[in-house]
Amino acid sequence: MARRSHRQLLLATLCLAASMLGAQSTGADDARAAAGVYELRVGDFSVRVTSWGARLVSVVLPDSKGNLADVVLGKDTIAEYVNDTSYFGPITGRVGQRISRGRFVLDGEIYHLERNDGRNTLHGGGTAFSSSAWTVKEYVAGGDSPHITFFYRSFDGEQGFPGNLDAYVTYRVSSPYTLGVHMNATALDRATPVNLLLHAYWNLGGHGSGDVLGHTLRLFASRYAVLDDELLPSSGRVAPVAGTPLDFRTPTTIGARIRQVTGGKVVGYDANYVIDGEPEGMRPVAQVQDGASGRAVELWANQATVQLYTGNWLNNTKGKDGKVYNQYAGFTLETMGYVDAVNHPEFPSQTLLPGQEYKHDMVFKFSF
Ligand SMILES: *[C@@H]1O[C@H](CO)[C@@H](O)[C@H](O)[C@H]1NC(C)=O
Ligand SMILES: *[C@@H]1O[C@H](CO)[C@@H](O)[C@H](O)[C@H]1NC(C)=O
Ligand SMILES: *[C@@H]1O[C@H](CO)[C@@H](O)[C@H](O)[C@H]1NC(C)=O
Repeated sequence: MARRSHRQLLLATLCLAASMLGAQSTGADDARAAAGVYELRVGDFSVRVTSWGARLVSVVLPDSKGNLADVVLGKDTIAEYVNDTSYFGPITGRVGQRISRGRFVLDGEIYHLERNDGRNTLHGGGTAFSSSAWTVKEYVAGGDSPHITFFYRSFDGEQGFPGNLDAYVTYRVSSPYTLGVHMNATALDRATPVNLLLHAYWNLGGHGSGDVLGHTLRLFASRYAVLDDELLPSSGRVAPVAGTPLDFRTPTTIGARIRQVTGGKVVGYDANYVIDGEPEGMRPVAQVQDGASGRAVELWANQATVQLYTGNWLNNTKGKDGKVYNQYAGFTLETMGYVDAVNHPEFPSQTLLPGQEYKHDMVFKFSF
């Protein structure tokens, strides 16, 4: 009797363990399966996004000869995005870019984050914003202004950050060839650093068409935050771009001086610029043109800085449509607040108090 009930107990325990395991893997699979891909289209301008990481999947538009191409680097399937370590197209958070030593102090408490970039934290560390299925709050596929709103509740302690946070991202397409990306966030109960960014890689010649070194770039930035070789603004210094290879105030090809700069441990741009003008208002950030295709994009935003990254670490990286991405196959323009602001009182604060609203707007105006 005793033996038998022992065996029953063991069996029951095994069944419970198995069903929990089942529930867990089904949960993850369900989340991934639930991550849909949504199209926003006006005429021949098509933008696709997925709820997995509130991610930009593709942007298709004509060139000067009328040939359509997809100008965003990415992957073919959600499953491949799940394993992606290059951050192809997601919204990263709770704090994008780097946090020194994966720690910060807020209201007298020390917070520890996952150190996923050497001894520092990159893009919030852990799995959250860029590697979760966001909830679709609204999807309007047709009309003059198709749009979709994604919602994510980041819980207290997620990635190590304090307090619950509600975040929304809306992608909106309008004529002519305009893509708006609108992010907001509210701290529900505790003060917390917030610095969301869109990590899309662009190649105006079409993704997988080669490198972007021939693209002409103009940046509306006279100053940059000096980054050390761990890509941290450790000195807290903001310096003029004048006389440095970071100066893109007059349109210059990305490749012209790229050999003179290092983004940390590899040759290429991974630089943080302070955008000219008042951070609160929408103002021009960058203009980029690809002479070969005639495609151009102008970026406007209401953020303090922009990180320019030239895909320095892409290396035989498998992309969409059988394409392979190598070094400099794309560039990012990540508008955001100051990098590592939570550890630099000399920078404008990125700490959001309960009841305050974080607001981040970007507008991409394409032409050809
Ligand atoms: C993702 O990574 C896991 C673990 O390394 C691997 O088993 C799986 O096949 C990968 N999936 C894809 C789609 O590459
Ligand atoms: C954030 O954006 C969403 C979606 O557009 C909107 O419903 C919500 O009211 C906004 N939050 C705040 C605090 O304005
Ligand atoms: C690219 O990968 C190859 C093979 O793994 C390696 O030899 C090379 O150094 C890598 N290049 C860069 C820029 O990382």
